[in-house]
Amino acid sequence: MSNLSNNKDLLILKNISHIYDQESQKIKVLNNINIKVLKGEMISLIGPSGTGKSTLLNIAGLLEKPSFGSISLSGYDCTKLSEDNKTILRGTEIGFIFQSHRLFQEFSAFENVMLPQLIMGKSKIEAEKKSKELLSALGLKNRLEFRPAKLSGGEAQRVAIARALSNSPNLILADEPTGNLDAISAKNVFELLYKLVKSLNISCIFATHNRDLAELMDRKLVLKNGFVYDE
Ligand SMILES: Nc1ncnc2c1ncn2[C@@H]1O[C@H](COP(=O)(O)OP(=O)(O)OP(=O)(O)O)[C@@H](O)[C@H]1O
Ligand SMILES: [Mg+2]
Repeated sequence: MSNLSNNKDLLILKNISHIYDQESQKIKVLNNINIKVLKGEMISLIGPSGTGKSTLLNIAGLLEKPSFGSISLSGYDCTKLSEDNKTILRGTEIGFIFQSHRLFQEFSAFENVMLPQLIMGKSKIEAEKKSKELLSALGLKNRLEFRPAKLSGGEAQRVAIARALSNSPNLILADEPTGNLDAISAKNVFELLYKLVKSLNISCIFATHNRDLAELMDRKLVLKNGFVYDE
């Protein structure tokens, strides 16, 4: 894998279009989208339901291949990478957070944060140290041994944030991570994530229907009718 550049654009989406081929129907979701995400930037992604926010995050996260266009992440031209190298880049560079926490129910909070690190080949001692650091930073020092079912919604989402950060990614892709939370927990989870993004100098795209939260981010992107606008 060759790294092309070292500038301050962490993610560059260039001329991205996406068409879903659903049986005989073609659904054009994204129409020539261009987005640059700077290092250290937290961007909100808003827009009506069904406009393609999740699709865009899946494309940026190398989970879905766009119909057209190119993606550069941390200087790597992702269009040219093999599936294996994409998986490695995803594991090291990107952390995902979803609307539901998607934690493993049979594992504790601590184990849920440990697992992705062990999968990426970190030593147990190193992974333990990182898991404790992250869970403490997210106010969960007293919840390490709790299983997800014993956590509140906000606590479970904070564990999901710790897990997303566990392999020290440069990019966090969050798809309505506060969508299932009440207004107070949503703000609390958002503020903790924002603080971590800033202190770690990483980047985050945060899709949300919550306009109040969107206003608090560095930049607001609106996706509508296949196009993206800065608002
Ligand atoms: N795998 C798929 N196959 C076919 N069509 C799809 C697929 N995934 C999404 N779509 C369609 O693409 C459009 C965009 O969906 P997407 O989930 O990206 O929207 P969204 O902005 O995230 O919506 P929401 O705010 O409700 O989460 C929708 O019309 C949806 O039906
Ligand atoms: Mg969505």
